[in-house]
Amino acid sequence: MQAWFMDDSNEDQRLPHHRNPNEPVSLDYLSELGVLYWKLNPDNYENDSELGKIREERGYDYMDLLDLCPEKVSNYEEKLNNFFTEHIHKDEEIRYCLAGSGYFDVRDKDDRWIRIWMKPGDLIVLPAGIYHRFTLDTTNYIKLMRLFVGEPVWTPYNRPQEDHPIRAQQSTKAVVKNFPITKSSHRGVRVFDDVIWDLNCRDAVKLRVTVFMPYEH
Ligand SMILES: [Fe+2]
Repeated sequence: MQAWFMDDSNEDQRLPHHRNPNEPVSLDYLSELGVLYWKLNPDNYENDSELGKIREERGYDYMDLLDLCPEKVSNYEEKLNNFFTEHIHKDEEIRYCLAGSGYFDVRDKDDRWIRIWMKPGDLIVLPAGIYHRFTLDTTNYIKLMRLFVGEPVWTPYNRPQEDHPIRAQQSTKAVVKNFPITKSSHRGVRVFDDVIWDLNCRDAVKLRVTVFMPYEH
């Protein structure tokens, strides 16, 4: 798997869209956004104990396979456009690339597009509420495993979704995760202000109180 910040060109979405010079994005940076990643053996997906462990630990009891290419998908170009419309979900989006390749684009906290190039063996989890989109690359083929907790819901909520409760949770988690653990109440107050400014949402305030109470006493 490789990831990089995208350029702003309007060329074909299936092209890599590297910046010049290239600006790679690390797994650590992705994990700060809540994006999880595993490298697995795609030839052994039916009997892979590592995959089984991930599914068990994270409760991914639903699984199906998706073959995406012009020959197998009716209205291929239209579907490609739909996948490429920026959206969020109420749940995680979990995709495991078994063959071919494609791009998952996610927004970082500064609203920059990060392009994640998925190849066979790459499994990623996009957190609920993260703005993202998907496209095939110029090979026009990818085989994906889709995983889900319980009965799958694939509903996309197209941007803008700033008032969607799941956006508030997603942003709050990111803010909390990046907050340095110190006893400084000053820092606590600063982050509190950030959360309010960022989210303006009652759920976020509740979560803030839970997390930062120790620093206020
Ligand atoms: Fe999606």
